[in-house]
Amino acid sequence: MKRLEGKTALITGAARGIGLAFAEAYVAEGAKVAIADINIERARQSAAKIGDGAIAVEMDVTRQESIDAAVAETVERLGRIDILINNAALFTAAPVVEVDRSDYQRVFDINVGGTLFTLQAVARHMIERGEGGKIINMASQAGRRGEPLVAVYCATKAAVISLTQSAGLNLIQHGINVNAIAPGVVDGEHWDGVDAFFAKYENKAPGQKKKEVGESVPFGRMGTADDLTGVAVFLATDEARYIVSQCFNVDGGQWMS
Ligand SMILES: NC(=O)c1ccc[n+]([C@@H]2O[C@H](COP(=O)([O-])OP(=O)(O)OC[C@H]3O[C@@H](n4cnc5c(N)ncnc54)[C@H](O)[C@@H]3O)[C@@H](O)[C@H]2O)c1
Repeated sequence: MKRLEGKTALITGAARGIGLAFAEAYVAEGAKVAIADINIERARQSAAKIGDGAIAVEMDVTRQESIDAAVAETVERLGRIDILINNAALFTAAPVVEVDRSDYQRVFDINVGGTLFTLQAVARHMIERGEGGKIINMASQAGRRGEPLVAVYCATKAAVISLTQSAGLNLIQHGINVNAIAPGVVDGEHWDGVDAFFAKYENKAPGQKKKEVGESVPFGRMGTADDLTGVAVFLATDEARYIVSQCFNVDGGQWMS
């Protein structure tokens, strides 16, 4: 028996990267998945590649009407939402004295506002159905401690950990488990951008930052999106029913708490 047979999931920012790996893993475990992304073309391509079990849904997590429409479309096409993964996020970095207010606002809107208001919309649907649900928020090791050039992104991920705690405590009365995953450094398109940033600010050759961070991970390399799917599947199963408001480090041993 597949572990998510008969379940449906909405995964934000799933057109590529970690969210896409989650979608693939969920479908492999028998779930039907809505790949929700602001990049609808890429979401369609990713859903088509997965085939049966995946649909593409256009969603901008910074706009309430887009959140409401994406949740309604997912419910209409998949029947209901049992699992939400709040995965969409934007990375930004700058020395503190150069942080730009509009960049700060945009990143908070996506990483924090997007997480909170998507969680809210899906939780309302889950409460109305009365059968509980699972909500997984993507935090980061960046939310566990600050970094000299990453003040805003780190602050958003600390906020995601805090929101997970409060929402989990508030929603468990409805049988909704809210938990988070805190990855470390996960190779992929996202990290190509991070590497380019550090190449500029730390005067490094392209690829050098990636090499350095990979070597500094106790496990011995950067993570891959597939390294995270086991926890994401587990947290969506009934085996995780007694886990409330937790944030799981899946980072090759980088952070202990
Ligand atoms: N890659 C890492 O090293 C790493 C480490 C720790 C945490 N994380 C977290 O894991 C999650 C996934 O990371 P990733 O590396 O796959 O990122 P990614 O940049 O590859 O993918 C993010 C996705 O979100 C989508 N998106 C952006 N803005 C959106 C919006 N307003 N509405 C809807 N979708 C939007 C993008 O189109 C993209 O498909 C993020 O929450 C990230 O912060 C990543």
